[in-house]
Amino acid sequence: MKIIGTGSALPSLSVSNDMLSAFLDTNDEWISTRTGVKRRRILSTETLLDLAVIAVEEAIKESKIDVTDIDYIICSNLVNIYATPTFSSIIQGKIGANCPCLDINVACSGFIYALDMADAFLRTDKTKNVLIVCAEEPSRIVDWTERDASILFGDGAAAAIVTKGKDLKATHLTTTSNIDALFYQRKLEFNPFVKRKEYGRPLVMNGKEIYRLAVSNSVSDINKVLEKSGIKKDEVKFFVLHQANMRIIVAIRQNLGQPEEKFPHNLEYYGNTASATIPILLDELNKTNQLVKGDILVLSAFGAGFTTGACVIHWSGTNKIIK
Ligand code: UT7
Repeated sequence: MKIIGTGSALPSLSVSNDMLSAFLDTNDEWISTRTGVKRRRILSTETLLDLAVIAVEEAIKESKIDVTDIDYIICSNLVNIYATPTFSSIIQGKIGANCPCLDINVACSGFIYALDMADAFLRTDKTKNVLIVCAEEPSRIVDWTERDASILFGDGAAAAIVTKGKDLKATHLTTTSNIDALFYQRKLEFNPFVKRKEYGRPLVMNGKEIYRLAVSNSVSDINKVLEKSGIKKDEVKFFVLHQANMRIIVAIRQNLGQPEEKFPHNLEYYGNTASATIPILLDELNKTNQLVKGDILVLSAFGAGFTTGACVIHWSGTNKIIK
């Protein structure tokens, strides 16, 4: 597997912490010091589909393949207005592709799970190019009348075109069933045969538990993929971590004993965009010329499930387009 094109798109509306304190009992000082988030982009006039299509078209352009050369689309998405059909099939129609499509929902670990799946597809004769798109709108599952989780998230989309190659050096994925730590519950349609009371609940989060699971699992995953690939920490150019909370990133960095400059971040501007955080950051690093052929990258994420994933990539470069 090798990444040959990246793209990303964010909503135009940028919401500051002060804008949130106009209707929530919170303040910039609390949010900045506890999370590192200063602003987040929130979908208002555009739709999630608009963002996904922009990100995908940019990744296709950069990869220099034709849209008809895409053999599979994997879309990572927590929630969108359609429970069916798949969001990937809706994106497929908009971009004019004609390949099989599937959605995955492993929350914020989606990009790493998708890379692992794409790698398996690409090892077969059937598949030459896979489009991965992570499109997320967590702003529509949080409770905007509560300050605990709503302040953390933002919306966004990012895409990558991956083709045959040997850049993925190691992957490690985990799922450990844990509903209580982080969940969003939908109320299903009325069914005359179901007698129990049913409720929908906006995103429920046990912040302290997520924090603890995130740090311990990410450190363990990263050490595992480094060991599997035979790469030393010092050889890694960037640790591209899920952008959930600056304090989580700092704790992982301190555990690994690595310098600050190896941990790029953008959560201060975008908040936590679920599975889109890593590919958005990767696209930014790519487009700002911070990645050069031969760089070693470690990607690591965690999310509801509880899922985690990490991988090591030997970056061989895309046909970069400057935004
Ligand atoms: O993709 C996964 C997404 N989730 C995460 O990454 C969450 C990981 N966890 C965290 O980042 C942290 O646990 C939080 C940032 C969510 C919370 O930080 P904390 O240090 O664990 O705070 P806390 O929940 O212990 O709350 C401390 C205080 C409480 O007040 P009292 O009881 O001490 O009076 C909260 O009610 O801060 C209060 N509080 C707030 N105050 C102002 C909670 N949220 C807010 C808020 N603004 N937004």
